[in-house]
Amino acid sequence: MIKSEDISKILDAARIEDVVGVFVPLKKRGSNFIGLCPFHDEKTPSFNVNPARGIFKCFGCGEGGDSVAFLMKHQHYTYPEALRWLAERYHIHIEETEVTAEEKQAQSEKDRLFHVNEFAQKYFQDLLFNDEEGKSIGLSYFEERCLSRETIRKWGLGYCKDSWDDFCNAAKKEGYTEEELVKAGVAIRNENTGSIYDRFRARVTFPIFNIGGRVLGFSARILSSDKSKAKYVNSPESIIYSKSNVLFGLHLAKDRIIKEDLCYLVEGNMDAVMLHQSGVFNVVATSGTALTTQQINLIKRYTRNVTVLYDGDSAGIKATFKAVNLFLEQGLNVRTVLFPDGEDPDSFARKRTSDEFKAFLVEQSQNFIIYKTNFLKQQAADDPVKKAQMLQDIVYTISLVPDLLERSTYLQQCSSILEFDEATLSNALKKQLHQNALNKAKQETAKSDIVVEKSIIDVPIPTQKQIIQGDNNSDYEQEKGVIKLLLAHGERYTRQEVYDESGSLEYQEVLVSLFIVCDIVNDGIKFNDKVFAKIFKLFKESICDREELPYMNDFIANEDTEIKNLTAEILVGDRELSPLWIEKNIPVASLEDDEVFDKYVIETLLRFKLQKINATIRDIKEQLKEIKDPQESSILLYEYKKITDRRNFISKKLNQVCMN
Ligand code: GTP
Ligand code: MN
Repeated sequence: MIKSEDISKILDAARIEDVVGVFVPLKKRGSNFIGLCPFHDEKTPSFNVNPARGIFKCFGCGEGGDSVAFLMKHQHYTYPEALRWLAERYHIHIEETEVTAEEKQAQSEKDRLFHVNEFAQKYFQDLLFNDEEGKSIGLSYFEERCLSRETIRKWGLGYCKDSWDDFCNAAKKEGYTEEELVKAGVAIRNENTGSIYDRFRARVTFPIFNIGGRVLGFSARILSSDKSKAKYVNSPESIIYSKSNVLFGLHLAKDRIIKEDLCYLVEGNMDAVMLHQSGVFNVVATSGTALTTQQINLIKRYTRNVTVLYDGDSAGIKATFKAVNLFLEQGLNVRTVLFPDGEDPDSFARKRTSDEFKAFLVEQSQNFIIYKTNFLKQQAADDPVKKAQMLQDIVYTISLVPDLLERSTYLQQCSSILEFDEATLSNALKKQLHQNALNKAKQETAKSDIVVEKSIIDVPIPTQKQIIQGDNNSDYEQEKGVIKLLLAHGERYTRQEVYDESGSLEYQEVLVSLFIVCDIVNDGIKFNDKVFAKIFKLFKESICDREELPYMNDFIANEDTEIKNLTAEILVGDRELSPLWIEKNIPVASLEDDEVFDKYVIETLLRFKLQKINATIRDIKEQLKEIKDPQESSILLYEYKKITDRRNFISKKLNQVCMN
C-alpha cells in the first residue's frame, strides 16, 4: 500500500495537461486544453482538460476525472499502478507498506511483465555494447546496416546471445520467476523437459514500446540468411501485448506526426529505424502484418494524413490496396511513394543524404487513388474482363472517400486516366455509394441487436389522393419523413431543380442530404422535435460548416442515446413511420428506380415545408386577432400575404409533382 501522505504528494505534483498530454495531443484553448477524446471516436474535439481544476472532461461521451482516473481508464491501470506511474514521472519517492496477497497479485501481474521486458531490453542492449559476442555479432550487424550508436540507443536495440538460456539465467538471478518469463514471452518452456529457454537467442532485438514508452515485447531478427528459419521472431500475445493494437515506433514518432500533420507508414522495423536516422521522424511500421482498424485509430489520434511507403513488389501492392481501403473508410487522406525497383525505404534512405531523401518523399508522393488507377490500368491492358473488374475496384475505392468534393475530383481524374466516360463512372459510383450506405446500416443495426426486418429503402410512398388532400399528417410525422430521408438516403444522388450560378432553375444531380439540408437551412425552418432537431443540426454542421457528409456511424453509434435509438428505429424500415404513404400501390422496391426516388425526395421535402408554413400561418392568424395597433397589424398582414403566397407556390409544386 502506498502511504496516504505520499498519495497527497503525488496528487499535488500531477499536472493533468501533462499527464493527458503523454497520450493525447492537446491544443491550448484559452486557459484550457482541448483534443480528440481517446475514449470515443470523434472528428471534432470535445475533450477538455482544465489545468486549474486538475480534471479532464469529454463533452461528447461524458468521461471525466483527475489524472489518476485518466490513467486508470486510458492505460487500464489499477489505482496503485496509476499512482506509481505518476510517482515515477514526477520523481516522488514512495514507501509502500504491506499489500494483501490478492492486491499484490492483481496489481503486479502486468507490472511484473513490463518489468521483465524492461529488464530484458536493458540486458540485450548491454550485451550489444559490452559483451564480446554481442559486439562482434550484434553490434557489427547493425553497423553493417549503417545504424549509428545514437540510433541504436534511441530505439533500444539489442542482442540476445547464441545460447539456450543465457538470458533466462540472468533474469532468474534478478528474481524473475520462470513463469513470468514465459508469460512475458521472452522465454519458451520445453514441454518435454519442463525447462525454459531464450526465445530470441542468436538474434538482434527490436523492443516494441507502447505510446507511454513501456516495453510490451520484442521483434527479433535473425542474422544469417538461413531461409529455413523465420526472419523475425516476435513476442507472443500477452496480457500486456496485443499486436493489432500497436504500431512499431509510434512512441518516438507521435509528437512529430502531430507537428508535420502527416504519418509515414512502412512495413519493416528496419525501414522505420532507418528513416528515423535519416531525419524522417514521423514514421511508424506495421511490422509486416495486415493493418487493423485499431492501428488506424491510433494514427487518427495524431493526424488525418498518411503516406504509405513500400517496395513495389506485387504482393506488397495488393496488401497495400486493402490497407488503403481501410484508411479511406476511416476518413484519412492516403498518399503513396513508390521506390525504384529493388529498393525499399531502408536501402534507399541509406544511400542519400537526409535532405535528398526528404525531398524525394515530398516530390514523389502521389495521391493513392490516382496511383492505383494508373497501376490497375497497366495491369488490365487490353483484357476486357480485367478492365471491368478494375473499374469496379476503383469505383469502390472512390466510394470510400467520405468527402463528396474529393470524390468528384477523383472521379474526374480517374475517368481521364482511364479514358472512360465520366457519366458512366459517376453512375457506377452512385450505385456503389447507395450499396455502401445499405451495407453499413445493416451492419450497424445488426450490431445494435435490432433485427432488420425490411430493407431501409422499404419506405412506402404516398398515394396521389392522400397528397392532394394535404396535410392531415402530424408535424412529427413530417419531420420524421425528412430525417428518414437524410439518414437512409443522404448519400444517394437525386435529380432535382436547383439554382445554378446564374440564378436560374435547372435540373441537376445533387446529393440528397445536400439538397435537403441546404433547402431547409435557406428557408430557416426549425424542427420541433428535440431529437430530430439534434440530428438535423449534425447534418447541417457537417454539410454547411465542414463541407462533408456526416458518417452514418456517427448517428447509429452516437453517445446521445436518444439519437442512437431514434436512428436505429428509423433505419429498420418501420412501416408505421409514414402512415400516409402506406396505401400507395407502388412496390416499395421501386425506390431503387431513380425517377420514383426523385419524386419521393421532393414530395417528402415539400410536404414537410407545407406543414411548417401552415403552422406559421395559423400563428400569424392568432397574432392578428390579438393585435390592436393598426401599423403593427399591417406589417403582420404583409407577412401573412407573403407566406400564403409561398404556401400556394409550394402546394402547386406539390400537386405538379404528384400529378406527373
Ligand atoms: P530487413 O530484411 O532486415 O531489411 O528487414 P525488414 O524489417 O525490412 O523486414 P521485411 O521487409 O522483410 O518485412 C517487414 C516486416 O515484416 C518485418 O519488419 C517484420 O516485422 C515482419 N516480418 C518479416 N519476416 C517475418 C517473419 O518471418 N516472421 C514474423 N513474425 N514477422 C516477419
Ligand atoms: Mn528491409
